[in-house]
Amino acid sequence: MCGIIGYIGYQEACPVLLKGLHRLEYRGYDSAGLALNDGSCNLRIYKCKGRVSELENFLQGKDISGTIGIAHTRWATHGVPDNVNAHPHESQSGNIVLVHNGIIENYALLKEVLSSNGYVFKSSTDSEVLVNLIEYVKNTNGCSLLEATRQALRQVVGAYAIAVMEKNDPDHIIAARQSSPLAIGIGKGEYFLCSDAASIIEHTRDFVYIDDGEMAVISRNEDLKVLKLDNSEGKINVRKLELSISQLEKGGYPHFMLKEINEQPRTITDCIRGRIDVGNMNVTLSGFTFNKEKFLNAERIIFVACGTSWHASLIGEHLIEDLCRIPVEVEYASEFRYRNPVIRKNDIVIAVSQSGETADTLAAIEIAKKSGAFVYGICNVVGSSIARATDSGTYIHVGPEIGVASTKAFTGQVTVMAMLALAIGQAKGTISGEDFHRIVRELHNMPETIAETLKSSERIADLAKIFTYARNFIYLGRGYNYPTALEGALKLKEISYIHAEGYPAAEMKHGPIALIDTEMPVVAIATPDHTYDKTASNIEEVKTRGGRILAIVSKDDRHIRRIADYCIDVPVISECLMPLVVSIPLQLLAYHIAVYKGMDVDRPRNLAKSVTVE
Ligand code: M6R
Repeated sequence: MCGIIGYIGYQEACPVLLKGLHRLEYRGYDSAGLALNDGSCNLRIYKCKGRVSELENFLQGKDISGTIGIAHTRWATHGVPDNVNAHPHESQSGNIVLVHNGIIENYALLKEVLSSNGYVFKSSTDSEVLVNLIEYVKNTNGCSLLEATRQALRQVVGAYAIAVMEKNDPDHIIAARQSSPLAIGIGKGEYFLCSDAASIIEHTRDFVYIDDGEMAVISRNEDLKVLKLDNSEGKINVRKLELSISQLEKGGYPHFMLKEINEQPRTITDCIRGRIDVGNMNVTLSGFTFNKEKFLNAERIIFVACGTSWHASLIGEHLIEDLCRIPVEVEYASEFRYRNPVIRKNDIVIAVSQSGETADTLAAIEIAKKSGAFVYGICNVVGSSIARATDSGTYIHVGPEIGVASTKAFTGQVTVMAMLALAIGQAKGTISGEDFHRIVRELHNMPETIAETLKSSERIADLAKIFTYARNFIYLGRGYNYPTALEGALKLKEISYIHAEGYPAAEMKHGPIALIDTEMPVVAIATPDHTYDKTASNIEEVKTRGGRILAIVSKDDRHIRRIADYCIDVPVISECLMPLVVSIPLQLLAYHIAVYKGMDVDRPRNLAKSVTVE
């Protein structure tokens, strides 16, 4: 994961880099550092364990002058999070300095070769190996930093976005990318490089996205050059980033996560805008319209995704099988990529990813493409690697999601899947006019329905106090709400560090019921649907064994209200859209429990927002 940033221009680099690092902290936050060159070949490296704010404290009173610099915020892969393993890393002579996001898989072998040539390593990182490899190639071949970096990268197996500078050259930064994101921001008389364009939007909206196998030569007062590793010229395609600074700030909320939960009426509005036409009873997704025949002829749809996006895909499976009668499989991208999946010509692979940068999902896409399948993306981040790697797709348009725990992206993904299922179902004639009209109307009204659901926030905050000291949780749901239960459990464990498991309610009696005692809270999703009576019986089974039940029910519910210890009421709409409603109280429950426990809700331990390593 990790975030990298670089600057060359007329401004003091340090404040630009620090501000950018704060914005990139979602990518990792166990140490941070920067390297600055003051123009008289005075290269200084400052780095320390901890967050960017700790780096800022560490910089007090230090010489931070210089109009060129590179910086890094780390999510540790090789070597514990400490001062030594923090980036930037310098080469043995101290002449070359590097920041790196990714993993050099053959680092051990390269390290051995370098060690036998007299190199001694200070850190345990793969990144220090790379900077020394660049130096070794440069010294051996007597070539430029650009050429040495190019040759070194040709020996590297793995993933990287890197930025490299040389002590005696305050006018150039070399950057390169393979499987980790890298964008170059183009200002007037200045350049920026970064893992995520949103990190520098105060400075420019014009970006060149570097592709896999490409290097960028960023020079003071010269045009940007893009080269491929085989030395051929790469294309420079400048794109405008549409994003406002307010979208990247907390807007008065104590945490990004709470802001993002509360934004959902608006983000769903943005997601359905121009796509749901309730007057003409139309659902239009251009990615579907342009590829209608492919969807109509699809023999199977395979979703590939990770984490929350995988949970959303499980709901997509129900939607597409119900409304389109196309068989669907849902795969963890990390498993799919390492087995030998059967993918046929008429299969459609749908890759789902908020960030659009998840390494396993990207690799799954490559496998699907090699097998000749049509690959469709459902992404949030415009211009992301997955958005670019897929044949077509639909953006969820929910705006930047900064809290590490995904909330509004989940509901955006499910909303897009519902629209896609409606569009396919209508074109195939597998959905009745009556069902189509009802679901379209409900999707159109979804922002109000979610706003109504959000009103229970205070009640949920009160309930959260009761459960703050629980050590385990079970979440139960059936049908469409089984994935919602999985997602609720994931939210809780991510940010409160309470162990939580989601189960299909009826599966309880096949094992997990042994865990039930008076200490075990059970969150039961029991909204009216075709398995309501069965779920009620499953809840009775838990109650009989002393479990404490917190049920999500409809306002009119009488039956489960009598069994459950606590209830949260939600509005009721069609079964296929209920995950959008039910996920709201589950997000709020996880949030409030984590806040009562004093956790760092937006930056939970060990996690990073964008998982760009496998
Ligand atoms: O960006 P992606 O949707 O591809 O990310 C996938 C998972 O890493 C992500 O959903 C993760 O599980 C979240 N932290 C969940 O809250």
